[in-house]
Amino acid sequence: MTCAPPAETVAAPLLAWYERSGRQFPWRGLRDPYPIWVSEVILQQTRVETGLRYFEPFLARFPTVQVLAAASEAEVLAAWSGLGFYRRARNLHAGARLVVERFGGEVPRDPELLGELPGVGRYTVGAILSAAFNQRLPILDGNVIRVLSRVFLVEGAPDRAAVKRELWGLAEAVLPHDRPGDFNQAVMDLGATVCTPTGPRCGGCPLVDLCRAVAEGRTADLPAPTKRAKVVFEQRVAVLVQREDGRFLLRQRPPSGLLASLWELPADEADEDAAQQAAEDIADGFAGGLLAACGVVEHRFSHRHWTTRVFRARGGDGYEAGPLERWVALAELGELGLPTVSRKAIEAALAAQLRLI
Ligand code: ADE
Repeated sequence: MTCAPPAETVAAPLLAWYERSGRQFPWRGLRDPYPIWVSEVILQQTRVETGLRYFEPFLARFPTVQVLAAASEAEVLAAWSGLGFYRRARNLHAGARLVVERFGGEVPRDPELLGELPGVGRYTVGAILSAAFNQRLPILDGNVIRVLSRVFLVEGAPDRAAVKRELWGLAEAVLPHDRPGDFNQAVMDLGATVCTPTGPRCGGCPLVDLCRAVAEGRTADLPAPTKRAKVVFEQRVAVLVQREDGRFLLRQRPPSGLLASLWELPADEADEDAAQQAAEDIADGFAGGLLAACGVVEHRFSHRHWTTRVFRARGGDGYEAGPLERWVALAELGELGLPTVSRKAIEAALAAQLRLI
């Protein structure tokens, strides 16, 4: 077990550093928990630079929890298009509906109640309530884990339950009583800008004198690596079937599983040898004829890698779109939940020089 120094030993230098060197973000300094909740959900699995591009447009579109609750899932997914991990958006939307139904539109201040909302785990509870109401609740994400593992020389891999428990204990122990909200933001910033995974800038670190990893020359070893999940590789074909009027067919994925309810080109699994036949079969289904092979799109999800061979076909005139299909014009793409992998395939299809095959 690691023994934490008194809270103020860490907090005082870290908060002084935060005042000088902390980052400015549009969600910082807000006291309304709703936009803070939105920011935390966006940032759960997204880099800050990307999150910054989505945060303000999302709030402009859904400025209050009531507006978000009243929106359709399709509208929410459209605003989330390109951010990935779409379950986050679905959970946020379901959570907004619960806040309106159960709590009269007030995001709960009680950590237990807040933690009952879908997608709101212990980290998110702490992040929202410490930032909005200065509640003394810890947070533990990748940045915080790195800082704590190094400062307190926590040796075990942080995906082990006992190590995770120890880290939560430390995250709580170091929290000051007067400014826990700023403190949490400060640790995140330190982890993101100074105590980085590789090449930490220990010379500029306010905790360098306390840091046991620095004292023992162990910063590069900590935190210990976690087990990596295997990546599954899949090969696919996707076909952009275009009508005379320029519209092309998109279909909606099933309501559960990967990219649930999002839109994509008609596609199938097929390796390189089977790709052209599979593409012809897809085009046949829409009374279309293949025109061109438009190249290969690679896309990596968290534990899955798709190699998609993209084709273009002419056809579909007279084909009535089914309930989960839609003939779309390019200008309408913004209305749909369109994941990045679909956008890449559509771009490849439309950019390709038509080579007749
Ligand atoms: N990542 C998650 N939450 C964050 C926040 N509030 N500021 C910066 N990065 C974050």
